[in-house]
Amino acid sequence: MPHEVRGVVARAKGEPVGIETIVVPDPGPGEALVRVQACGVCHTDVHYRDGAITDEFPFLLGHEAAGVVEEVGAGVSDVEPGDFVVLNWRAVCGQCRACSRGRPWYCFATHNANQPMTLVDGTRLSPALGIGAFADRTLVHAGQCTKVDPRAAATAAGLLGCGVMAGLGAALNTGQVSRGDTVAVIGCGGVGTAAVAGAALAGASRVIAVDLDPRKLDGARRFGATDTVDARDADVVESIRQLTGGVGADVVIDAVGRPETWRQAFYARDLAGTVVLVGVPSPEMTIDLPLLDVFGRGGALKSSWYGDCLPSRDFPMLIDLYLQGRLDLDGFVSETIALDDVEESFARMQRGDVLRSVVVL
Ligand SMILES: NC(=O)c1ccc[n+]([C@@H]2O[C@H](COP(=O)([O-])OP(=O)(O)OC[C@H]3O[C@@H](n4cnc5c(N)ncnc54)[C@H](O)[C@@H]3O)[C@@H](O)[C@H]2O)c1
Ligand SMILES: [Zn+2]
Ligand SMILES: [Zn+2]
Repeated sequence: MPHEVRGVVARAKGEPVGIETIVVPDPGPGEALVRVQACGVCHTDVHYRDGAITDEFPFLLGHEAAGVVEEVGAGVSDVEPGDFVVLNWRAVCGQCRACSRGRPWYCFATHNANQPMTLVDGTRLSPALGIGAFADRTLVHAGQCTKVDPRAAATAAGLLGCGVMAGLGAALNTGQVSRGDTVAVIGCGGVGTAAVAGAALAGASRVIAVDLDPRKLDGARRFGATDTVDARDADVVESIRQLTGGVGADVVIDAVGRPETWRQAFYARDLAGTVVLVGVPSPEMTIDLPLLDVFGRGGALKSSWYGDCLPSRDFPMLIDLYLQGRLDLDGFVSETIALDDVEESFARMQRGDVLRSVVVL
């Protein structure tokens, strides 16, 4: 029997989102039905509402979620009803050219559910990042369910599903921050603050947080930043150089994703250092650099898709660190809200009032 549940739907470009009744089918082969317990509000949800990702309206929003598997379809053996899971948008295929070369965190053919969730009149919904978890229940591919220790709070665990994992992974996986490295993070929203936490976790000797908003700099200190730079009144490149003995940081992470911040990252890095771009630029942005500087400064210029995470490897490990008190996932939860408060929470996010609002179901 299909389930009729509440879900937050974006009907048309730029229009406020609202709660609608949605129809969630029983899981078919390879699929899982999940009772959502908590789902964080991410910038990507606003981008969907604004038509900035695709124009396949209506969208079922929400994608940073944790919950309990309720039913599984035929052929599903990795998860079973009752399992506590974090939903991921990287259900690896095991067969594409990335997977077959042993780099599944780049998988180019990730799985989503085959059956659509719909409105009551049968209109097909596009679930955000193939998840759609601002809903009492959602249908996903079983590979999108990653089992973690059920002692974790759902509000904290769900954050690994997107932004916090992207930031932690930008430092740990893409930037390969290691003990003694100096690290700078430009932009300390949810993603950048997680990158600060990741750098601290990896044993960085110095973690420099950069933002335009002093509230964000205070927050970054709580997650392990050793120094802060207020980008409103400081020369960012010069400040990072001064804080690193005049040479620049080993790893600089751009968690804003604009040409000016990426350029700062490029020049604030030591020779042979690494730049990680985890903030997402928009289509009109371009960058112009002397090619000799690209050559002469050496090192690596990398992008970080979803923190280059492998959910089955990274989620349980990070939840264990959280339960040991070594990773403060609860600290990212600025507020818990109800399903009907999603639209208002977008405004609070855009004003920079919160790191993460988390819907509790
Ligand atoms: N790569 C991925 O897989 C992935 C996943 C999730 C989100 N993201 C992206 O990461 C970026 C950050 O997401 P977020 O949720 O942290 O957003 P956010 O809006 O909460 O944080 C951005 C922060 O950057 C600061 N900022 C803006 N301009 C700045 C400047 N010129 N110098 C210094 N600081 C500046 C803001 O004050 C804010 O604190 C977004 O572009 C988002 O789309 C990427
Ligand atoms: Zn693959
Ligand atoms: Zn997201």
